[in-house]
Amino acid sequence: MRDAQPSTIFLSDYSVPDFLIDSTTLRFELGEASSLVCSVLALRRNPDAASQDAPLQLHGTELELVSLSIDGRQLDDSEWSQSGEQLSIANVPASFSLCCETRLRPQDNTSLEGLYKSSGMFCTQCEAEGFRKITYYLDRPDVMSVFTVEIIADQSRYPVLLSNGNLIETESLADGIHKTVWHDPFPKPAYLFALVAGKLAVVEDQFLTTSGRSVDLKIYVDEKDLDKCDHAMLSLKNAMRWDEDVYGREYDLDIFNIVAVDDFNMGAMENKSLNIFNTSCVLAKQETTTDAGFQRVEGVVAHEYFHNWSGNRVTCRDWFQLSLKEGFTVFRDSEFSSDMGSPTVKRVEDVTLLRTAQFAEDAGPMAHPIRPDSFIEISNFYTVTIYEKGSEVVRMIHTLLGPELFRKGSDLYFDRHDGQAVTCEDFVLAMEDASGIDLKQFRHWYSQAGTPRLHVSGTYDEQAQTYTLVVKQSCPSTPGQTEKAPFHIPLAVALIGEAGQLALQLTDAAANIESPDNTELVLNVTEPEQRFVFANIKEEPVPSLLRGFSAPVKLDFDYSGAQLLRLMRSDSDGFCRWDASQQLGLVEIKRAITALAAGQQVSPDSEYVSACRELLANTSLDAAMVALMLQLPSEAYLAEIIHPVDVHGIHHAREALRKALATALSDEFSACYSRCESDEAYAPDAAQIARRSLKNTALSYLMLLDDAQSIALAVRQYESSSNMTDRLAALTYLVNSTAAYKAEALLRFYQQWQHEPLVINQWFQVQAMCRLPGTLEVVQGLMSHPAFDIRNPNKVRALIGAFCGQNGVNFHREDGAGYRFLADQVLLLNRSNPQIASRLLVPLTKWRKYLPSAQQLMCSELQRVLADPELSSDVYEVVSKSLQ
Ligand code: ARG
Ligand code: ZN
Repeated sequence: MRDAQPSTIFLSDYSVPDFLIDSTTLRFELGEASSLVCSVLALRRNPDAASQDAPLQLHGTELELVSLSIDGRQLDDSEWSQSGEQLSIANVPASFSLCCETRLRPQDNTSLEGLYKSSGMFCTQCEAEGFRKITYYLDRPDVMSVFTVEIIADQSRYPVLLSNGNLIETESLADGIHKTVWHDPFPKPAYLFALVAGKLAVVEDQFLTTSGRSVDLKIYVDEKDLDKCDHAMLSLKNAMRWDEDVYGREYDLDIFNIVAVDDFNMGAMENKSLNIFNTSCVLAKQETTTDAGFQRVEGVVAHEYFHNWSGNRVTCRDWFQLSLKEGFTVFRDSEFSSDMGSPTVKRVEDVTLLRTAQFAEDAGPMAHPIRPDSFIEISNFYTVTIYEKGSEVVRMIHTLLGPELFRKGSDLYFDRHDGQAVTCEDFVLAMEDASGIDLKQFRHWYSQAGTPRLHVSGTYDEQAQTYTLVVKQSCPSTPGQTEKAPFHIPLAVALIGEAGQLALQLTDAAANIESPDNTELVLNVTEPEQRFVFANIKEEPVPSLLRGFSAPVKLDFDYSGAQLLRLMRSDSDGFCRWDASQQLGLVEIKRAITALAAGQQVSPDSEYVSACRELLANTSLDAAMVALMLQLPSEAYLAEIIHPVDVHGIHHAREALRKALATALSDEFSACYSRCESDEAYAPDAAQIARRSLKNTALSYLMLLDDAQSIALAVRQYESSSNMTDRLAALTYLVNSTAAYKAEALLRFYQQWQHEPLVINQWFQVQAMCRLPGTLEVVQGLMSHPAFDIRNPNKVRALIGAFCGQNGVNFHREDGAGYRFLADQVLLLNRSNPQIASRLLVPLTKWRKYLPSAQQLMCSELQRVLADPELSSDVYEVVSKSLQ
């Protein structure tokens, strides 16, 4: 165990900074052996600070300090002191200029935080606390400063030199050196600083803002990727227009740059006017990128662009407020994607992510509210809770206020706080002030962790012609929070009769929000137990509950099979219709588990099979919906529902059920497959994506028949596809089958794409996710493949991440070898890239969910990790909390 444990930081300890930085001037001399950073900070005491004689304390990590001076006078060693991440200088004037020189070795920086090198280019990642790896600074988001940045580097190696804001000077110096100077007029926190220097090609376009300003749009990539930028550029222009139309937000500079880098810990970063992207989130073309990849590019480009207002113009006061910018921005990007494509499909995808990854986080050892009240390492809090649950919380405000008042609220928020660093409370207050709607109780969503549970029951009174819903809410305890106050939960409902939705009339109209046609209501659930009585109900209805997934909760209602079938066949709400299919699927899987345990055959209920048959013949429903409804609940979702989790039992039951469906409906799956074939030119639009999704769903079932005909179909699709979606789907099914051709397919795939790293990542991932036995050995073998590189996060995620996080049966091998493998990799990565190490560790931390035999093996690997004396704060926090 490490001797000094990293300390915990508390929201309740927040105080305003003692100093402010009016301007920041940075000079970077970038070199091969080392790089020199010279910063000049115009500092003054903060008039709002509690103490007016506190020493100046700056953040700095792993820095080599070259010199330090105040108002031009060099400080000697006795005038400053250093401890941990703090550099202290006592007795400073009320206002002064601090000049500081640090020497860095970006080429050795494997953490990919601060200034580092990726494929020969210099780049930066400063959020959350990476700027302190560049120079000593007040590295906190409530210190905002105007930046001027001078970059000096070899012209032939680094022809492109970029930073935030406007280019104000370029100059050629002696000896093949050149220099650029950038100035960003908008004060910003250090986490939004960025610098790029490298040999980059550029794709250019323009956007005319609503007020008539022309903005230069540039995407910088490696020369060989110039043909993969069109989709990102189109997405950027669509996002810029959408933010004007939907939020009235215009872009505020004359230039907007995107740079693609190979080595990046996350998806992308919203640095002011200089967004830096993981190549996987910007490059796309049909031959190399799947439909899901195209959609990810569109979503991430929009997300980072939207941060220009929700994040940059209005930023976070401290990192406990991270969801202020992330939750809101995810909500904005998901509404954008929904407007660009299929709203129901987007909603189902978002809900699926939430109900698997986020619900699991909320039920695990790292559970935290969307506004946490403490952390050890902020990098560990870039979570599905902060992002996705945060987005759901903003969505609930949107539901409670309605679109017009929500827009009034967001206008007020941006107006009131432009140029400020604020809190989640400021956001809620703006929404309240603009709408007049009381969100007092709603605020519990910001402070309480855990997934609330709604138990709903319904009774029909034929005599009185009423239908009564009784709604009970509860929330399980989470680390540090045993008692929870009741939440304010918007519960969207409809009542479905024989001929469709019934008109709704509550006997006690307790401030509920009505839909225009009066057949859908949003119930304000606020108490532990509440009763809603609907009048004039002439038949016993089937309730359609939590329509559109109106709140991030688990809902129980004791539906009969017949009721679920009615919802699956006819609910007008796409989410509920899909969810009914999933609930039916869940019932069948549970029956299959019981059957297999008793040594019996798995045979699905005939009504369920008929409903699937109908779906396969339904050409009026969106093909993407058909595909989603035919896919059984994932193993990850099942692991959230069935406790304790018997990974192997669940897997075998689900596969047996899939095979039974494939057998019963083989003609229908074949016909569906043929119907979905098409030779039109590829486009990543909703209609085509839907058709490919259904076609590949059909193929995945056919492949379970394990017959020559299906294998031939997959081989043909693999060989003849002109797009990666179909090609990769076919490869995936072949790899998971008994087809002799699979080795050849994998080899040819590699040979064809070895010069495209993003395609090779998909090749790693397909193999890492193979459900067949022996996959761990394959993964271990691939780790010494020349294309694998443990320093590249995309490769680590594709191989190790996919194996441990998305291949339940193999990761949970009964001999514990999967767990041991993960612990070994975490210990290795802990030294080079702590952020990636701690993220990778997550599957082990969920040990409490599994069978006792698995629990023990998982725990002993966690103990082994905890025993490493040199654990980073990232890994330490996750491993220690998971064992508490
Ligand atoms: N703010 C970035 C985004 O939009 C995420 C960057 C976080 N980086 C990190 N190293 N934790 O979502
Ligand atoms: Zn973000």
